[in-house]
Amino acid sequence: STSAGSERADSPVVVVANRLPVDRVTDPDGSSRWQRSPGGLVTALEPFVAGRGGAWVGWDGSAGEAPEPFESNGMSLVPVPLSEEEVDRYYEGMSNASLWPLYHDVVEKPEYHRTWWDTYVQVNKRFADRAAEVAADGAIVWVHDYQLQLVPAMLRQRRPDLTIGFFLHIPFPPYELFTQLPWRSAIVEGLLGADLVGFQRPSAAANFVQLARRLHELPARGSTIEYDGRTVTARAFPISIDAAAFDELAGSPEVVARAAEIRAELGKPDRIILGVDRLDYTKGIAVRLSAFQELLEDGMVEAPSTVMVQVATPSRERVEHYVHMRETIEQQVGHINGIFGALGGPAVHYMNQSVPREELAALYRAADVMLVTPYRDGMNLVAKEYVAARGDFGGALVLSEFAGAAAELRQAFLVNPHDIAGVKNQLVRALRSEPDELAKRMRAMRRHLFKNDLEHWATSFFDALRAQA
Ligand code: ADP
Ligand code: F6P
Repeated sequence: STSAGSERADSPVVVVANRLPVDRVTDPDGSSRWQRSPGGLVTALEPFVAGRGGAWVGWDGSAGEAPEPFESNGMSLVPVPLSEEEVDRYYEGMSNASLWPLYHDVVEKPEYHRTWWDTYVQVNKRFADRAAEVAADGAIVWVHDYQLQLVPAMLRQRRPDLTIGFFLHIPFPPYELFTQLPWRSAIVEGLLGADLVGFQRPSAAANFVQLARRLHELPARGSTIEYDGRTVTARAFPISIDAAAFDELAGSPEVVARAAEIRAELGKPDRIILGVDRLDYTKGIAVRLSAFQELLEDGMVEAPSTVMVQVATPSRERVEHYVHMRETIEQQVGHINGIFGALGGPAVHYMNQSVPREELAALYRAADVMLVTPYRDGMNLVAKEYVAARGDFGGALVLSEFAGAAAELRQAFLVNPHDIAGVKNQLVRALRSEPDELAKRMRAMRRHLFKNDLEHWATSFFDALRAQA
């Protein structure tokens, strides 16, 4: 089977994450429906939980009362309610205007507000209560990401019988940055409630161990910390995707045909450059637009024989930083098209939309160059999806050194997104490389990816967690 964990349905796991894998959206006519939630966490966890028949405790993405628990795609979904004020302070405030920018190298300036923190504590308690209610005796509970860093300790207090794992999907900052946080001690204590704390990169795990040692004067050796009479392990488990499933989707006759159709719809350009992201300031979307614009200005590339497609899923639309960045990017796209576009032939095709998986796979297949240029990213699954989609060994991946994925996809055209000249050079190299050279790189990256897939990630985490319990 290609779905992760399906052959290991031993102990049912309870996953606790800010979001459920589906979002409740209300249409203009007042009716509501479910749609897939955005982001890498859901991409990675959904096949894992579905394959194991586990429970998933999370928010349904809307404010107000939560629906009753329900079954979906072989999972038992347990919604946690958030009020308008909690969405504002816990989700948009503390999670996405304090922790998100702080953990991503302060690419934007984090704001700290005591009301946001108090609500963060209150909502973390609610998640811990709900998880404590649904977990069976001695169960494994797996808590996820920066929105819920207090849950491990709260849950341990309520249910000492549980084995608790935590995984952080985003980077974990060094001591010098983390200690800005007025509630730094509480966060570290919250995480130390877990038996195993997983990170994307070894440097993040080391940052955490160092923090515990310096801030709390705890004895720590290698990857372990002694705390409260227990041993807590902090280690890297680089997350991945269900590579075989994505490969199969992208190689299906329908998707291959759709890829050809996309090329035709774009006016049969010689070269297609693609970007796919949540519309987030960490992703460096403006950098790649600038690189493309300068290459057009320099006459190094020409439109519309070379076009760029940018698909940007709307994200966190009420947070100030996001409102601002969207305006900047849309202006930039308008500017480039104003100068370099033709009637019916823009240089940049921009979509502020989420597209279905099949369409995404077809876009990956159609793209000659995939541009992934975050200033900082925990992993970046888009890069891995592109590699999984290229069973034809075609295409070039341009990838930021500051994405976790760069530690694994070494044969990508690596770039420093702060160095625009470097990005331009690598983009031109990628556009002009011989097919043989590209195939060699793609083959090597695919070899790594298929060995280090989602199943491998989940299994390594669980083996380490069981060894700890
Ligand atoms: P993050 O978790 O920060 O959003 P990742 O790159 O790790 O970043 O994961 C993003 C996930 O969301 C991927 O699975 C990707 O396919 C999906 N995604 C991103 N943009 C879009 C889009 N415009 N339409 C559909 N899916 C998208
Ligand atoms: O790890 C990336 C992540 O922040 C997840 O925690 C989150 O669910 C996803 O991206 C999408 O963001 P949001 O839930 O804020 O829409």
